[in-house]
Amino acid sequence: MKKQVGIEALAIAVPRRYVDIEELAKARGVDPAKYTAGLGAKEMAVADPGEDSVSLAASAAARLIQQQNVDVSRVGMLVVGTETGVDHSKAVASHVQGLLKLPRSMRTFDAQHACYGGTAGLMAAAEWIASGAGAGRVAIVVCSDIARYGLNTAGEPTQGAGAVALLVSEQPDLLALDIGLNGVCTVDVYDFWRPLGRREAVVDGHYSINCYLDALSGAYRGWRERALAHEVVRWGDTLPSEQLARIIYHVPFCKMARKAHTQLRQVDLEDSASGRELTPEAREAAAKSSASYDAQVASSLTLNARVGNVYTASMYLALAGLLHSEGTALAGKRVGLLSYGSGSCSEFYSAVVGANAAERMAKADVEGVLARRERVSVAEYERIMNLPYEAPEAITPAPGEFRLKEIRDHRRVYSAG
Ligand code: CAA
Repeated sequence: MKKQVGIEALAIAVPRRYVDIEELAKARGVDPAKYTAGLGAKEMAVADPGEDSVSLAASAAARLIQQQNVDVSRVGMLVVGTETGVDHSKAVASHVQGLLKLPRSMRTFDAQHACYGGTAGLMAAAEWIASGAGAGRVAIVVCSDIARYGLNTAGEPTQGAGAVALLVSEQPDLLALDIGLNGVCTVDVYDFWRPLGRREAVVDGHYSINCYLDALSGAYRGWRERALAHEVVRWGDTLPSEQLARIIYHVPFCKMARKAHTQLRQVDLEDSASGRELTPEAREAAAKSSASYDAQVASSLTLNARVGNVYTASMYLALAGLLHSEGTALAGKRVGLLSYGSGSCSEFYSAVVGANAAERMAKADVEGVLARRERVSVAEYERIMNLPYEAPEAITPAPGEFRLKEIRDHRRVYSAG
């Protein structure tokens, strides 16, 4: 029998503070409905300089190990996917290995490609295990980022921060990956980037949305071709994408998942015999189907609406939200996942939800992690955003979490709670 490989468990970490999105809209003189209905946001995580991608990654990985009782002697690979690296050379993954006192006998590295780095890391880990090279060992992949565009920018309401740690193994209690079916698409574009030395991303916002949708079409068509060949989906009474129980998208802001789903359906309709019989207007209306969005997408967005963009971790936060709310109902069902990293690389893959997903997610306590946050005013959020990154405030981290304490002689020093 073919080896099953995938995600066994996950854990999340978020900054200790957040701002209410309607309050932010009012402070900017914007109709709050633009941020809530127009972008789909509710709350936005606010990371202070002590909460960098290392501390968030270490906190998520420590929580994963503690909640799921991971035997760390079996971890042979630790990958961090991040857009927000802290050094041009030293890997975030090496900090995490040291902070968590993990065994030395493991491969550590970072994967960087804007928001795609986490999926790049997951596939490297899964294929390492599937190939047999892992020899029974497991991998931890952490997606950790601070999404930052700056005060009073168009991107401001689409900021956020956090980390999701994934345990990858031959016991895929959350998701068994359909290895070999993945569709990928790379296009050399300048839609979102962050020149060396800058804390804020540069983004061509509306163009970036079009780049995402174009890349999605390429990646999805690649997956669909293989999935049809392996009879995982078929052309029939329903579209191939409708044969997936849920589709989880990269979520830079929640409304983007709706745009992505419309595009995916448009691709299926354009390529199907029944869709080609429709007028362009009827095809567009069928692509925009709210019933399809409500059934296949909406339930994955609850956590993202409360955290904001988390770049590499956004799609995995959506996965956490979906399995937290629907783990039992989805057991044994196939879902699709679309990862997009600006620049750009995108990947569409599918996976089957495990029978123990709900049990694993109960241990992850994702609601509890969000509930422990503190709501801050817009004035306090602005103060935090203006703090110099090299001088973090002296705050004791919560038990089991980590914070950047200081930068001494260009070395980052962390404290543990
Ligand atoms: N009530 C309800 N809705 C309203 C409204 C109101 N009063 N006013 C505006 N809206 C709606 C608009 O109609 C629009 O919805 P549609 O797109 O469905 O038409 C939505 O609110 C946003 O309005 P605008 O397009 O006018 O907003 P904007 O120009 O100020 O900026 C943005 C939006 C481009 C997303 C900007 O926030 C941005 O640049 N964000 C960062 C870039 C980004 O997230 N890109 C996503 C793709 S790239 C990627 O995915 C990688 C990554 O993670 C960065």
